[in-house]
Amino acid sequence: MNILIIGSGGREHALAWKIAASPLVDQLYCAPGNAGIAREAQCVALDPADHAAVIAFCKARAIDFVVVGPEAPLAAGLVDGLESAGIKAFGPTKAAARLEGSKGFTKDLCRAHDIPTAAYERFTAVAPAKAYVRAHGAPIVIKADGLAAGKGVVVAQTVAEAESAIEMILGGGLGDAGAELVIEEFLVGEEASFFVLCDGETALPLATAQDHKRAFDGDKGPNTGGMGAYSPAPVMTPQMSRRALDEIVLPTVRAMRGMGAPYKGVLYAGLMITPDGPKLIEYNVRFGDPECQVLMLRLVSDLVPALMAARDGLLKNFDLRWSPEVALTVVMAAHGYPGHYEKGSVIAGLNEAEKIDEVEIFHAGTKDERGHIVANGGRVLNVSALGKTVSQARDRAYAAIDRIRWPDGFCRRDIGYQAIAREKPLG
Ligand code: AMP
Ligand code: GLY
Repeated sequence: MNILIIGSGGREHALAWKIAASPLVDQLYCAPGNAGIAREAQCVALDPADHAAVIAFCKARAIDFVVVGPEAPLAAGLVDGLESAGIKAFGPTKAAARLEGSKGFTKDLCRAHDIPTAAYERFTAVAPAKAYVRAHGAPIVIKADGLAAGKGVVVAQTVAEAESAIEMILGGGLGDAGAELVIEEFLVGEEASFFVLCDGETALPLATAQDHKRAFDGDKGPNTGGMGAYSPAPVMTPQMSRRALDEIVLPTVRAMRGMGAPYKGVLYAGLMITPDGPKLIEYNVRFGDPECQVLMLRLVSDLVPALMAARDGLLKNFDLRWSPEVALTVVMAAHGYPGHYEKGSVIAGLNEAEKIDEVEIFHAGTKDERGHIVANGGRVLNVSALGKTVSQARDRAYAAIDRIRWPDGFCRRDIGYQAIAREKPLG
């Protein structure tokens, strides 16, 4: 079969790498792709926002299945457009993608179905929002309702900080995404990400992961899209995963179905593991980036039949095999990220880096310029490795990084530190 992947990040490179390994695939395309994806798939210069162009391409190339990576085309209804044109697509419809596209929608759904989450209220005006903050005190969390590319959440340590976040968001600082906001209780615990595949009716747990959102070592600096991840997340014991499935994910899948917007695709539950059990922080309607990279490294089974079963409503009784090993990925980003950064610097040493045992390098913002790999984005590479322990996977990833010559890039040197602190050395 012919498959088209939509996206251009490290997540899409990991998906392309895994999908290209499937014996079911004849031709694999990616739009728009990057220099690493070009090793696995034919990259095509299509704008995912131009649905008519994507549909025309699928018809011209006899595409059997489209896998949509990022949230923006999902929220814009690309899957709806493809399916109405008779092209099978993996990912939620526009209506189902509201689980990520509107925090208020998801919070109301949790309230209506007793799904454990932080206590909250929704606001469109500054004065009542500030009054709520004063009544509840700090720390407190202020969230723009819509998609804000990771900039929409302020964990305010003081009432003053919360008030200025309210003014910034409702004052238009995040554009339309901030026309409304959610204010919620600050949850205390350990964060973990839980990934499931949904087919509208059932949910198949994939794996768990932990992300490192801050830019610098020791969880300092600004929030980013994610600077590194590992899987599995030690805090997600089988019992905790079971609770997350029964108390959070399955009630959500039932609720979405009940409102006529059945959820199909990957559902990524951002959880806080509190003393009372798992609570939902947020949903994403796609694989995490860079969490997808570590999930794909650990997935033993063919991914393609699982994605198709999700689309076809046939996940019941489906099973996937996972490596018991740990996977860890370190993001290399351009200096300045998540703020202003330059593009175009040359990256060398990738071939030598990839020779290290169990190392796989997924590209995010890269481009091929006359045979040289150059930086073309904020997050640029995901240097990933498998290992028997988190420390072993980490040592391999950093050994590979030390062979990469890219003076204009940086990475965190402490990915996995919380899990490593708990780990016994290999005996
Ligand atoms: P989000 O973009 O919703 O993932 O939020 C970004 C980060 O803010 C999360 O990964 C958490 O670290 C933090 N956060 C969001 N909501 C809460 C909450 N209710 N309590 C504590 N931390 C939160
Ligand atoms: N790494 C966090 C995300 O993909 O949302």
